[in-house]
Amino acid sequence: MKPILDACCGGKMFYFDKNDPRVLFQDIRQVSTTLCDGRPFEVNPDVVGDFTSMEFPDNTFNMVVFDPPHLLRNTGKSKFADIYGSLNPKAKPVGWQQTKYGAMPDQDWHEVLAKGFSECFRVLKQGGFLIFKWNETDIPVSEVLKLTDQKPIFGHKSGKRSNTHWICFMKD
Ligand SMILES: C[S@@+](CC[C@H](N)C(=O)[O-])C[C@H]1O[C@@H](n2cnc3c(N)ncnc32)[C@H](O)[C@@H]1O
Repeated sequence: MKPILDACCGGKMFYFDKNDPRVLFQDIRQVSTTLCDGRPFEVNPDVVGDFTSMEFPDNTFNMVVFDPPHLLRNTGKSKFADIYGSLNPKAKPVGWQQTKYGAMPDQDWHEVLAKGFSECFRVLKQGGFLIFKWNETDIPVSEVLKLTDQKPIFGHKSGKRSNTHWICFMKD
C-alpha cells in the first residue's frame, strides 16, 4: 500500500507531481471537462471512493491529506456558470468553483465532515499525520475543528484574504 492517502484529491492542484507514486489519490468523482475560460480540468483519482466510508483497513497510511469541499452548495457565491450550467438551462448553474472544488450539502455538512475526520483518523497509522486544509469563506474553521476530538498541533493561514487554513494533526 502507498504511504500517503489523499482522501479527496480533486484536480490535484497543490501537487508538485500529479502522479506522485507515494500518494494514493481518492475522490468521489471522475471528471474531464473544460472550464468556461477554456482551461481543461480533470479529476482522475486512483480510487473512486467516499471519505465518509473508506475501503481501507484501520492504521494503513503514514499520512492522510484531507482537503474537503469548503463551499456550501446553494450559497450562490459562484463567479460564473460553467458548461454544466449552460448545457442544461433548467439546472441551477454550477460555478467554476464548484466544478473544481465540489460542494458540501447545506444541511448535513457537520455530519459529512465529522465522518470524514473519523475515517481519515481510522485509516491513519498511530503517530501518523493528517494534513487538513480548510477555506472559511462559508464555514469558520473553529466550527469545523469541533467535529473531531483529535487535537491539532499547528496551523498556518494563507490566501489573499488569509482565510485558507493548513492544519497538521498527529494521530494519538
Ligand atoms: C477542495 S477539492 C480538493 C482539491 C485538491 N486538494 C487539489 O489540490 O486540487 C475537494 C474534493 O473533494 C471531493 N469530494 C467531495 N465529497 C467527497 C466524498 N464524500 N468523498 C471523497 N471525495 C469527496 C470533491 O469531488 C472535490 O474534488
